[in-house]
Amino acid sequence: MNVVLIGPPGSGKGTQGELLAARLGIEHIAVGDLLRAEVAAGSAVGREAAVFMDAGELVPDDVILRLLMPRVFAAAAGAGYLLDGFPRSVEQAESVRAEAAERGAAPDAVLYLDVPRPELMRRILGRAAREGRADDNERTVATRLQVFDEETKPLIGYYRERGLLQVVDADRPEPDVTTALLDALGA
Ligand code: AP5
Repeated sequence: MNVVLIGPPGSGKGTQGELLAARLGIEHIAVGDLLRAEVAAGSAVGREAAVFMDAGELVPDDVILRLLMPRVFAAAAGAGYLLDGFPRSVEQAESVRAEAAERGAAPDAVLYLDVPRPELMRRILGRAAREGRADDNERTVATRLQVFDEETKPLIGYYRERGLLQVVDADRPEPDVTTALLDALGA
């Protein structure tokens, strides 16, 4: 099964992605984690990505596709993937649509984690205090939320038109969100 998780910063994509992938026996692929590993390793990709991540902007598509798609195709050739953080724009979705369909790697379901904005800010600033992630400061978070509204939100209509989208209320305790997501997948 191939599942895409979409949601604004702080909506729980990483948290739920890990849990769901383990429950479903599929591979959790988290784009933000892949990028942060490249940054930590000081690779050329990491150095290029860091500039955009620190500003709260999207990393250029060519960098993302090179890093991500081999993993997505490999996972889809096995039990499937739980993709957290891609696509983040209709352009990204369209750029891989034909090849993904050809290779049996198209998403079977797209889950949107719905959380009101004040709760998103509360979660992210809470994590900032605990973990100090480089892009969890107030200014960068404001940009990340704006980028989400402008670039990523149109994917809701895009996937709804294709009959793939399910919206899940993710403003509740983590175990309840996991149950709701599994229900939405019929799993
Ligand atoms: P990424 O790492 O994906 O960041 P994000 O989308 O901003 O999401 P977050 O990690 O902040 O939140 P999340 O939804 O995963 O929630 P989480 O589970 O962590 O991307 C970082 C950057 O990489 C982007 O800004 C961009 O620059 C670049 N990038 C990534 N993908 C890209 C792409 N496709 N194209 C171009 N650039 C890309 O939870 C957040 C907090 O809330 C945690 O502390 C958690 O413990 C807590 N929490 C979770 N669930 C609950 C709950 N139910 N109740 C209370 N607290 C909860």
